[in-house]
Amino acid sequence: MKIGIIGAGNIGGNLTRRLTGLGHEVSVANSRGPETLSALAQETGATAVTASEAANGARIVVVTVPLKAVPDLPSGLLDGAAEGAVVIDTGNYYPQRDGRIAAIEDGLPESRWTERQIGHPVIKAFNGTYAQDILDRGRPQGTPGRQALPVAGDDAAAKQTVRDLIDELGFDTVDSGGLDDSWRQQPGTPVYGSRDDADAVTRALAQASPERTAEWRA
Ligand SMILES: NC(=O)c1ccc[n+]([C@@H]2O[C@H](COP(=O)([O-])OP(=O)(O)OC[C@H]3O[C@@H](n4cnc5c(N)ncnc54)[C@H](OP(=O)(O)O)[C@@H]3O)[C@@H](O)[C@H]2O)c1
Repeated sequence: MKIGIIGAGNIGGNLTRRLTGLGHEVSVANSRGPETLSALAQETGATAVTASEAANGARIVVVTVPLKAVPDLPSGLLDGAAEGAVVIDTGNYYPQRDGRIAAIEDGLPESRWTERQIGHPVIKAFNGTYAQDILDRGRPQGTPGRQALPVAGDDAAAKQTVRDLIDELGFDTVDSGGLDDSWRQQPGTPVYGSRDDADAVTRALAQASPERTAEWRA
């Protein structure tokens, strides 16, 4: 499958490694330009491109940049994507890093904010997963204790596409509801940073409180 990855840091780099390893055709971009991604391209066989080009023809586009960078992404970012393209948002709001984002402080789920910025629906996934785990902790379907990732989004078909991709990467998934419920997997919630299986992730999501704790406020 053609996959575009915007952001080539901890998460974007490791997704590039795993997804090329699975045979996907990956284009990857950062802010400094493709010439700065030659080592990753050489290592993985991915194509290094500009952020404007990353979505071209892609069936899945992963946006994996710090939230503060989302408004700087090129306009028309997804214009060249395949029809019905699915966008995965891995982002978290870290006020210490991203500065104060009033709408999120006022209770808008982070991924709803990102969706509005880029003008395309998103599926929230990988946001609570350690980047290294993407490389190391994938297991075959049916493995007892297989790590599970919560996946939130409004479009059932898009969410299934993402769940299938995550399964391919070696993880179970838990449907964590629509994007309005995605606060249940934001930083500071019980499921954030979890390495647990699907049953435990389901319980953790149910235990979440919508209150953003002081540690996660600007
Ligand atoms: N690290 C983790 O374990 C982890 C886990 C789950 C979720 N997350 C979340 O996922 C997101 C990415 O995290 P990360 O740790 O992978 O970040 P990171 O290591 O800091 O990498 C960020 C990447 O985004 C790129 N970028 C920044 N602005 C851009 C722009 N305008 N256009 C294109 N690319 C741009 C950077 O490119 P340059 O280097 O060229 O500037 C860099 O490749 C964050 O929201 C983070 O909270 C992180």
